[in-house]
Amino acid sequence: MCGIVGYVGHRQALEVVLGGLHRLEYRGYDSAGVALLGGGGAQRVARKAGRIANLEAVLDADGRATFGGTVGIGHTRWATHGPPADRNSHPHVDESGQVAVVHNGIIENFAELRGELEAAGVELTSDTDSETVAHLVARAYASGETAGDLDASVREVCRRLRGAFTLVITHSDVPDRIVAARRSSPLVVGVGDGEHFVASDVAAFIEHTRRAVELGQDQVVVITRDGYEVTDFTGEPASARPFTVDWDLSAAEKGGHDYFMLKEIEEQPDALANTLRGHFAAGRITLDEQRITEQDLRDIDKVFVVACGSAYHSGLVAKYAIEHWCRLPVEVELASEFRYRDPVLDRDTLVVAVSQSGETADTLEAVRHARGQKARVLAVCNTNGAQIPRESDAVLYTHAGPEIGVASTKAFLAQIAANYLVGLALAQERGTKYPDEVAREFAELANTPSAVQKALTTTDQVRDLARRIADAKAVLFLGRHVGYPVALEGALKLKELAYMHAEGFAAGELKHGPIALIEDGLPVVIVMPSPKGRAMLHSKLVSNISEIQARGARTIVIAEEGDDVVRPYADELIEVPAVTTLLQPLVSTVPLQVLAAEIARSRGYDIDKPRNLAKSVTVE
Ligand code: G6P
Repeated sequence: MCGIVGYVGHRQALEVVLGGLHRLEYRGYDSAGVALLGGGGAQRVARKAGRIANLEAVLDADGRATFGGTVGIGHTRWATHGPPADRNSHPHVDESGQVAVVHNGIIENFAELRGELEAAGVELTSDTDSETVAHLVARAYASGETAGDLDASVREVCRRLRGAFTLVITHSDVPDRIVAARRSSPLVVGVGDGEHFVASDVAAFIEHTRRAVELGQDQVVVITRDGYEVTDFTGEPASARPFTVDWDLSAAEKGGHDYFMLKEIEEQPDALANTLRGHFAAGRITLDEQRITEQDLRDIDKVFVVACGSAYHSGLVAKYAIEHWCRLPVEVELASEFRYRDPVLDRDTLVVAVSQSGETADTLEAVRHARGQKARVLAVCNTNGAQIPRESDAVLYTHAGPEIGVASTKAFLAQIAANYLVGLALAQERGTKYPDEVAREFAELANTPSAVQKALTTTDQVRDLARRIADAKAVLFLGRHVGYPVALEGALKLKELAYMHAEGFAAGELKHGPIALIEDGLPVVIVMPSPKGRAMLHSKLVSNISEIQARGARTIVIAEEGDDVVRPYADELIEVPAVTTLLQPLVSTVPLQVLAAEIARSRGYDIDKPRNLAKSVTVE
């Protein structure tokens, strides 16, 4: 969380930096700010609480021309230390105003550093951990061994910091360079002709260049107009991974939609097809990176899936498939709880870490804990080269493309598909499925993009329904078997986007408590299993629906097309295409995403940037 960007080149830096910030706003939108180095070496800073639009109003009021120069840095914040106020907005500067710093992450020893600075008479003006860095760099630059050397000053300060951080720093004494550093939080360099960029995510500079370099752990990069140089925190040259971004600007734009999320919902068939592509060849499922031996895979006797938010729900779906296909016990854990309860892990445990961003701090720490206990870690991730895949023993990338809407949609479906590939790969390796069975399961998966395309034809119906129930106080979601995680995901979407009370329940559990919540007119969404594939569960759910209908609930039923048995019980019936049971979440989630987005829109909320949330949560 927090988006940071820096630019050195031949264009007006203000516009480049603001453009980058707009593309990074999904990472946090509590405040925004910029620092520009003018030709004469003077540094100008503007920052403002709230969205980037508030910052732009400040820039317009002051006159954008006064923020000239071809070197600049910027920040969009998700507040951790200190409330979203102007004084806590980045960039932070030292007392002289010469050093400007933007920061993503948390500096864990900041209280100690702050105490040291205050004891030395430095007056701090914010509540943040980040401001300490500006003062420490200024002091390192002013005297001692690193005097007059910005690069060395930054490295020295980095060596003193604990926690996770990406820092981007300028000093008006050296107005032709930007120094950036990373530990655990993401940082990429954009390589252009006569211009260079640094950013949290390639989206910030994709309109200027697709050539990028991913910094490694504990590295510092100096960018100038003509090049970039990477070292470690001691100043030794270090190597970083160059790569070419395989998507372009149009993928990071709304493409005619009012919101990214609406575009991303529509992109789901492609996200699924791209995720599956290339993973079944010569009769075998393959992963992207595989550093676990075949024997070790055969020795696995237990699987944990660890993840957060929607990714966690994708893990709940995966449990049904992996247990069924591999005959292995699977536990699904919230990453934030995992390492605090001493889970039983050893070298025969496989931990599947699912993360769209690959940088979620809770999931990353769970990965580290698992590896510390000798477990094998397999990452399912949507971001090439992010920290979680880097620290894992095997990787399967989802190819959902950039997901900008804060609430996950296409990445979630891609995670379900990728988790299934992991299950099939395990089944194949362990011999719990014959090759022809694996091939059949893959063929079913390969048909899901067109099934999801068909599920999208329910959009108009669901939007109309959403507008009719937008004033409801609460909505409940019920499901059984793989429909249960879908119910949880539907409720999460509604909470995130529409700020409504929404709960997902296992339908069988209704009678043990939640049925007390049912009152006249309460919308209840029921995710039905197939009447053919799961006949017994289907009839039990029909009974559950009649129980709540008898108590006044307004029933909204997501059912397989042609399910005439449930029709009389549905105040609103939304029909999705028939697919095999395990694949149902891929089609039944779609109308729930549309429902949440449209209710939020009817209530007047920004569905891409729900309040208090951020897309990449890099704090625990
Ligand atoms: C945040 C997002 C969610 C996402 C979760 C996990 O809370 O708002 O949409 O599911 O993080 O993110 P990850 O990047 O690890 O999948």
